[in-house]
Amino acid sequence: MTGLSERSDRKKKRVHVTVREMELDDLAVVFHLGEQLFKADVVPNLYRTWDEYEVVSFFMSDPEFCLVAEAGEDIVGFALGTTISKARSAWKYGHLVWLGVRPDLHGYGIGEKLFAQFKELMLDEGVRIIFVDSEADNLGALYFFRKMGFGSPKEHIYLSLNLAAQKRRPRAETSTSSEPES
Ligand SMILES: CC(C)(COP(=O)(O)OP(=O)(O)OC[C@H]1O[C@@H](n2cnc3c(N)ncnc32)[C@H](O)[C@@H]1OP(=O)(O)O)[C@@H](O)C(=O)NCCC(=O)NCCS
Repeated sequence: MTGLSERSDRKKKRVHVTVREMELDDLAVVFHLGEQLFKADVVPNLYRTWDEYEVVSFFMSDPEFCLVAEAGEDIVGFALGTTISKARSAWKYGHLVWLGVRPDLHGYGIGEKLFAQFKELMLDEGVRIIFVDSEADNLGALYFFRKMGFGSPKEHIYLSLNLAAQKRRPRAETSTSSEPES
C-alpha cells in the first residue's frame, strides 16, 4: 500500500485511463492482478477470498457492475460489485466487493475513477446506500474510501468455532459411498 509521504509527491499526477465494463477476455488479467493485491494473508474482507471463481461468478451474476480501468492496452484496475434488495424494504443497496489498482499505479487517481463510474451505475439502479468493507489495518483503503465520501465505520467482531475435532465426512461423499456397488 502506498505511504502518505509518497502519495503527496505524486499528488495531482494522473494517468489517462478509460473505465469500461469487464469483458470475457479480461477475466484472466483481472484475476492475476487481484492475486497481486489480495494475497491469502492480506485479505480485505474475511468471508471472501480471491480466486478465479470469484471473478467468474461476478462476471456471470452482475456483469454490468464489473468494471476495468484500461491504460493503453493494459488493464490497470478493476471494480466488482453487486446490488442487494431486502425483502419488505423499498431500499436497494450497493456492495462494492473488490476494488483494486495495479500496485505501481497507486495514487494516480485510477481508484477514484473506477469508484466514480461504479457510483454512477449504482445511482442509475436506484441504490440508496453503498457498502464497502475493509480490514481495520488496511489504512490506504480506509483513507481512500473516506475520501470517496464513506463514513460511519462500524466495528465488526468475528468469532470462530473450531469444528476440527467433530469433523464429519461431507454429505456428498457419504451418499456416494453408500450407493450399492454394481
Ligand atoms: C484502495 C485503492 C483501490 C486506491 O486506488 P488508487 O488508484 O491508489 O487511489 P486514488 O489515486 O484514486 O486515490 C484517491 C484518493 O484517495 C486517497 N488515498 C488513496 N490511497 C491512499 C493512501 N494509501 N494513503 C492515503 N490516502 C489515500 C487520497 O486522498 C487520494 O486522493 P489524492 O491522490 O488527491 O490525495 C488501491 O490502493 C488498491 O488497489 N489497494 C489494494 C486493494 C484494496 O485494498 N482494495 C480495497 C478493498 S477491496
